[in-house]
Amino acid sequence: MADLKTTYLGLTLENPIIVGSSGLTRSLERVQECAEAGAGAVVLKSLFEEQIEMDFAGLAERSEASLGHAEAYDYLRSYGRENAVDDYLDVIREAKKSVGIPVIASVHCADAGSWTEFAERVEKAGADALELNVFVLPCDPHRDGGEYEEIYFRIVRDVRARVSLPLALKVGPYFSGLASTFLKLSHAGVDALVLFNRFHRMDLDIENFRVVPGGAFSHPEEMQVPLRWISILSGLLDCDLAATTGVHDGAGVVKHLLAGAAAVQVCSTLYRHDLSHLGRMREEILAWMGRHGFTSVSDFKGKMSQEESENPAAYERVQFMKFSMNAP
Ligand SMILES: Cc1cc2nc3c(=O)[nH]c(=O)nc-3n(C[C@H](O)[C@H](O)[C@H](O)COP(=O)(O)O)c2cc1C
Repeated sequence: MADLKTTYLGLTLENPIIVGSSGLTRSLERVQECAEAGAGAVVLKSLFEEQIEMDFAGLAERSEASLGHAEAYDYLRSYGRENAVDDYLDVIREAKKSVGIPVIASVHCADAGSWTEFAERVEKAGADALELNVFVLPCDPHRDGGEYEEIYFRIVRDVRARVSLPLALKVGPYFSGLASTFLKLSHAGVDALVLFNRFHRMDLDIENFRVVPGGAFSHPEEMQVPLRWISILSGLLDCDLAATTGVHDGAGVVKHLLAGAAAVQVCSTLYRHDLSHLGRMREEILAWMGRHGFTSVSDFKGKMSQEESENPAAYERVQFMKFSMNAP
């Protein structure tokens, strides 16, 4: 009988499909539903660093002026509750009592700060790991790549100094020296990198001249960017890799495992279908393993990484020479 077990962040997962941080994991009931549907693990909906800091400082004492960003203030006033941190810790404690799968807490952060104390509380509450969702868009032309990259190291240093629980860092693709930065992060106390954060998309309404939100949900083609980088980096870093963005079916999970990912996070596809889709994805992976004679994930994990490839240049080919030359 084939087995889907995998190891991620030092934790044993019954299967490699993790329900990623989103509304799907925002409450105890939702986490229980994910576990019942056979998720390998869950990443809880993130708390924002501002939410944590406001909670510590006392939400009521803060004004819009002190936050300096009206939209963020409005959001936090409606979404962030006075006791958001306590509620979050309760979800961790209760989830650990009632589900048998790993529960990974999550924080949205843009720099180190007093919020890192929260990591200690997460650890005490019994979370199996903490995922740091770092959202930094390097859009200031007067700051170079190194300055932006230092933000990640500051966050990791601060959090690592406070806790010993496994740390995952969920990152975007915007690095000036992506491979070298990720290698250094894997030496700086990060136990897993989650590739790639899907930043809030923007679009333009050309009739009303307004910036509007782009689509909230991913499309399957979007998995190709993380797939390339997981293929290139797996085996080269001192940490696990997990995939996020664009995985909608069992074939997508298989591709990432072949590339070398230890686990794969999914959200959009579960919003499009429902949690029962997790069962279909597991069946698709098992059917594929059956067709190829594999009985465990370790039989094929990383088998198609660049490191294992007979044609490593294929992973780095970025020009469409053949197609450009032959294009009509
Ligand atoms: C409704 C929604 C809410 C999300 N909230 C969070 C969040 O709080 N923290 C986070 O790290 N990612 C959040 N994400 C991003 C997902 O975890 C995931 O990385 C992204 O959707 C790409 O994966 P997918 O293609 O499987 O959807 C959210 C995504 C969606 C669709």
